[in-house]
Order: sequence, then structure tokens, then C-alpha cells
Amino acid sequence: MRIAIFGATGLLGKALMEEWSGDEVRGFGSKDADIRDPAQVLAALQGMPPDWVVLAAAYTDVDGCESHGDLAFAVNTQGAVNVANAAKSLGSRLLFLSSDYVFDGTKTAPYETSDSRAPRSVYGSTKAEAECALLGILPKCCIVRTSWLFGVGGKCFPDTILKLAASRPKIEVVNDQRGCPTYARDLARGIMQLCRKQATGIVHVTNRGECTWFDFAREIVAASGLATTVCPTTSDKFVRPAARPQYSVLSPRSLEAYGIALPPWQEGLRDYLARRHEQEAAKSL
Ligand SMILES: NC(=O)c1ccc[n+]([C@@H]2O[C@H](COP(=O)([O-])OP(=O)(O)OC[C@H]3O[C@@H](n4cnc5c(N)ncnc54)[C@H](OP(=O)(O)O)[C@@H]3O)[C@@H](O)[C@H]2O)c1
Repeated sequence: MRIAIFGATGLLGKALMEEWSGDEVRGFGSKDADIRDPAQVLAALQGMPPDWVVLAAAYTDVDGCESHGDLAFAVNTQGAVNVANAAKSLGSRLLFLSSDYVFDGTKTAPYETSDSRAPRSVYGSTKAEAECALLGILPKCCIVRTSWLFGVGGKCFPDTILKLAASRPKIEVVNDQRGCPTYARDLARGIMQLCRKQATGIVHVTNRGECTWFDFAREIVAASGLATTVCPTTSDKFVRPAARPQYSVLSPRSLEAYGIALPPWQEGLRDYLARRHEQEAAKSL
């Protein structure tokens, strides 16, 4: 197959470029093609044309989206529409990356793909609106909702915790938001399999298991052998511009329907830590 990846320079994009094997893959960052410009999107794809377009490009600064709403909708919603229109005109399939933030977080059991969208933030709204628009343009597109992404080669929660833990004896982390960490490398493999299986509709793709940010931080520190104490705290002590869902665990049922299962998040974390360690060691040579 021929695969085009928008967002190839991001956390997930890098993992997709690294993991994808057996197909012809071309990746684009924002300098290669700005998805806000339909002409740039079409020009990027016309040379191929691809069997699948994977749209991992987005304005992902959740708090930044609150104060830059126009930019957020231009990239995350209109940009996605531009890519969908280009894919449609070339007869390509589309796989779009969406988020657990399309939900309001009031459930106490894992979110199914049939649950209603009710975003609480601008970022979540841009993704929810994009989902609806894309299903209108390409009813057979595949929408992959994921959550709490982490991976090597970019800013992510474990990286932040490790940097803090290196200089502080004690850190406080919120214990009242529950979700599922997702390792970019595992997600990339899941996406590759979904394309091979010609997946359609909404699919929830995260690592297995669930935790709070506090649980996640405690595991990161313990698995790294650091002595830092991780203390639980509450979100009201860390008020941020964008509201986060309190509970956003995504049910694996839609992924299992394709015969695909991702490993537990703790396994992804071990691989992340080993690879990060290798990278740090290589940098210091
Ligand atoms: N991070 C999470 O926790 C999380 C959770 C749920 C869902 N997601 C979704 O998963 C996907 C991948 O996330 P990520 O964390 O890998 O993102 P990321 O690291 O922030 O990377 C974003 C990517 O989008 C590209 N981009 C931004 N604006 C663009 C534009 N106007 N035109 C073209 N490309 C543009 C960037 O290109 P340059 O770097 O070249 O500028 C970069 O490649 C996104 O759709 C995100 O919304 C992420």
C-alpha cells in the first residue's frame, strides 16, 4: 500500500514513520504541507496518490487552544476537512486521530464509541466537530480516538516527570483524573493494523488498563529507580485554562472487534524508559 502521514514530525508521527513496514510511506510536517491550505494538502498527495492518508497533524496544546480558538479550529477542524476533501478527490481512505477529550468525563465506566460527544474544552470541541464533518465527507473513514499519549522524541508526561524528579525530592501529581496512558509506538502499530484491516468508523485505541496521573507518575519514578516521593493532590490545586475530563477511559471493545489488542500501559512505559535511556546515553557520547 501507499501511505501518506500528516503530522509525521510529531510524537505519534515519528513513531508511525519508524514502525510502519512493508508499505511505501511518505510523511509530511507542517513545513511540507500546512493542512490549513487545501492546495498544499492536494499538492502533497497528488504525486502518490495514497491508499491511506493518516491524519496525525493537529494543534495539540490543549490550554493554548483556549486562548487561540481560531487557530485551533483552523488546524484541527478545517484542516481535517481539507485533508478529507483531498483524500476523497484522490479515492484514498482516511484515518483521523481524535481524542478522549470529545467526552465530558462524567461516566464512571469506560467510554464506548456509541457514547455521545460532549467536549468541555476548545480542543475537545475542535476534535468533536472534525469527527462529525469527516463522517459527512467520507462516511467510511476511520476515526481513532486515543488518550494520554507518550513517546520518545517529544514533550510528554513521563518526560516532564523525569525532569522534575531529577531535581526535586518530592513532586505532587493530581489523583482525581482517570484515563489510560498510550505509548506512541504501540498506537502506531495498532494504526498500521487497522489500515491493513480496512477499518471503518470510530475505534478506541489505547494501551490496556487505566490509572490516574498520580498512579502514572508513581510508576514512572519507581520504574526509573529514582528516590523522589510522589504525592497525590487534586485538580483544584492545579487550575489550568482548559477543563479536563475527570474520567476518560476508552473501552477497548471497538479495537478488539478487529482482533487487535494493545499491551498494558506499564509495558509501554518500560519500553519508553529503555529507549529514552538509550537516547540520553547516545547524546552524552
Ligand atoms: N498528545 C496526546 O496526549 C493526544 C491524546 C489524544 C489524541 N491526540 C491526537 O493524536 C494526534 C497526534 O498527536 P501528537 O501528540 O503526536 O502531536 P504533536 O506531537 O503535537 O505533533 C503535531 C503534529 O502536527 C503537525 N502540525 C501542526 N499544525 C499543522 C498544520 N497547520 N499543518 C500541518 N501539520 C501541522 C506538526 O508539524 P510540525 O512539527 O512540523 O510543525 C506535528 O507533526 C493528534 O491528532 C492529537 O490531537 C493526542
